[in-house]
Amino acid sequence: MTARRATAFAPASVGNVAIGFDILGFSVEALGDRVTVCRSATPGVTIRAITGVAENLPLEAAGNTAGRALIAMHEALALPFGLEASIDKGIPLGSGLGGSAASAVAAVVAANAVLDTPCTPLELLKFAMQGEAVASGSLHVDNIAPSLFGGLVLTVGIDHPRVKQIPVPPDVRAVIVHPHMFLGTREARAILARSVALADFVWQTANLAGFISGCYTNDLDLIRASFEDVVIEPQRHALIPGFKDVRAAAMAAGALGCSISGAGPTMFAWSVAGSALAVEEAMVAAFASRGVATDHWTLGIASRGARVEDA
Ligand code: HSE
Repeated sequence: MTARRATAFAPASVGNVAIGFDILGFSVEALGDRVTVCRSATPGVTIRAITGVAENLPLEAAGNTAGRALIAMHEALALPFGLEASIDKGIPLGSGLGGSAASAVAAVVAANAVLDTPCTPLELLKFAMQGEAVASGSLHVDNIAPSLFGGLVLTVGIDHPRVKQIPVPPDVRAVIVHPHMFLGTREARAILARSVALADFVWQTANLAGFISGCYTNDLDLIRASFEDVVIEPQRHALIPGFKDVRAAAMAAGALGCSISGAGPTMFAWSVAGSALAVEEAMVAAFASRGVATDHWTLGIASRGARVEDA
């Protein structure tokens, strides 16, 4: 029998991964959001409660990322019952760790478990994208897709998205350092220039192609050589206090690359396992020398995405 109530977990994620603005991201299992969805006699979508590390979020469904994603699902499927959601935030707001995406993904994955006829993962992706748009003002997929599918994920297309999970060399670790400050995604997107110099376009394209090729062929040297964002990072780094010092410290400690996680202010690095602790300590120390406290994690890039935990 179909469950009437389900809880799903969706992991945090690092968007862009330096060279794949709006199209590439990887999941971060250390943190995530949980959403419980019940079938309800109240028509439409309602948000019952928001708990956890970010409580000041809209309870009005249309203004809430999870709520908006559920509305998209509810309308597309013309559901004969209402959906009631309770959101437990594990990802800090404005951290650059894909919190709005995770709430939207957890909501649609939980809701899917209470449907008589479940949706496909690509349908869930599209519903969750509508939720993400509420938070950031744009339909980008680089957090939604890795949170839903897990691992390093490339998404090609918006209306008909093609999702590709990219293999990551097994020795690679992701170091994530979250400074205790808020940075709004809308604000960090609003400062971006609308056009790109041709030389930067060529360089960034080469880096994206090199990075993906390096992942497929286990070529750490190619990953290291390609791990540079010449378009977005130069426009955004001033929003993060100590960015240049943190990046330089990570690279000096042996990182393959270091950049901004999504819209920031969290920073991330990739490193081989043997250098990961030194990279983490160097990044944390560089933030600390600016008086900025952090949370930090080192983890593998697991290809486990959102899942139902209880139904
Ligand atoms: N790709 C997005 C950005 C991620 O960098 O603005 C933020 O959610």
